[in-house]
Amino acid sequence: MLRDRLGRELKDIRISVTDRCNFRCFFCMPADGEVTFLHRKDLLTYEEIARVVRVLTPLGVRKARITGGEPLMRAHIENLIGMLAPVDGLRDIALTTNGYRLEEKVELLKTAGLNRLTVSLITLKPDRFKRMVGRNLSLEKVIRGIKSAKSMGLEPLKINTVVVRGANDDEILDIAEFCRENDLILRFIEFMDVGTLNGWNLDKVVPAREILSTLAKRYSFEELERKDSSETALRFRFRDTGQEFGIIASVTQPFCRGCSRLRLSADGKLFTCLFANDGFDVKELLRSGATDEELLSYIKDIWTEREDRYSELRFELRKDRGKRVEMFRVGG
Ligand code: GTP
Ligand code: 5AD
Ligand code: SF4
Ligand code: SF4
Repeated sequence: MLRDRLGRELKDIRISVTDRCNFRCFFCMPADGEVTFLHRKDLLTYEEIARVVRVLTPLGVRKARITGGEPLMRAHIENLIGMLAPVDGLRDIALTTNGYRLEEKVELLKTAGLNRLTVSLITLKPDRFKRMVGRNLSLEKVIRGIKSAKSMGLEPLKINTVVVRGANDDEILDIAEFCRENDLILRFIEFMDVGTLNGWNLDKVVPAREILSTLAKRYSFEELERKDSSETALRFRFRDTGQEFGIIASVTQPFCRGCSRLRLSADGKLFTCLFANDGFDVKELLRSGATDEELLSYIKDIWTEREDRYSELRFELRKDRGKRVEMFRVGG
């Protein structure tokens, strides 16, 4: 079993397959002009990604989550899932999407071996949706995507809702009701200071306790026990329906202590934290003919030396923040 300097095991790999996205959610990616995207040749191929995952499972990795940018923007993403599905030791393949292309892709994803899906949903108001995603796009298409995933039996189906004060915090109850009606596991996410481009400040964060007190106006619920020490979400259950929901309170109740996540960016860098300044260039190693043993020993050293716990130290570390990787590059 591989442990880092703080005793944390390596259990999950989060794979960003592209930094591109058809949305421009203001809390993630600025509007056009300010961002340059990776070239195709700089992206890891699906073969290279699968090779990294095959090296990781003997080290303890059991879960893989595919993210972006928007992972459904990358051509034939189902081929990657098909390559990961048979990897020895990997028990869970999940994907996080904005849902826009889901309706046309969900069957392919399921057939290729996807186990779980999370869809981002930040508003139920069509006009606000266009503003929040910075594009003239149809919210209805996302809703249809969610419903088609549900009808394909991709269970449990989770919804991620980043809450930003003044933007969508008046929809907490409506989004909760939508998820209850459609039997979706909702997770509210506190707005985080990932990267340097999203205009974060503490006033825009709606703390978990405030989200809970808003929900308590309409619903009765109880907190559930942690299933796993590396869980991101505080979990709750509505008392009337028994349905689960969660809150990812990375700002007000950090969960670094159990962080078992390694991240692989689309251009082949390994990041030991969402808030890291830089990653370790595994692509360079892959393309210079390294053997599996060399890859394994490289990754082992990275994990063994790891001591990140940004969210616990946020207010100290923010003072001397320099360059910081963006969320759409490193994956959510
Ligand atoms: P499950 O596999 O279903 O448990 O999903 P998950 O908890 O890994 O959740 P998901 O991948 O949907 O992540 C939800 C959100 O939590 C992300 O979009 C991030 O905003 C946040 N998040 C996930 N992992 C981390 C992490 O390691 N650190 C911090 N600070 N935030 C994280
Ligand atoms: N803070 C919290 N969550 C964020 N996401 C994107 N940017 C942020 C941020 N600044 C979420 C998205 C999606 C996942 C990939 O990350 O809403 O659910
Ligand atoms: Fe795209 Fe997701 Fe970022 Fe929104 S949060 S811009 S959908 S990658
Ligand atoms: Fe893990 Fe870094 Fe998130 Fe803490 S801030 S939970 S160390 S990724």
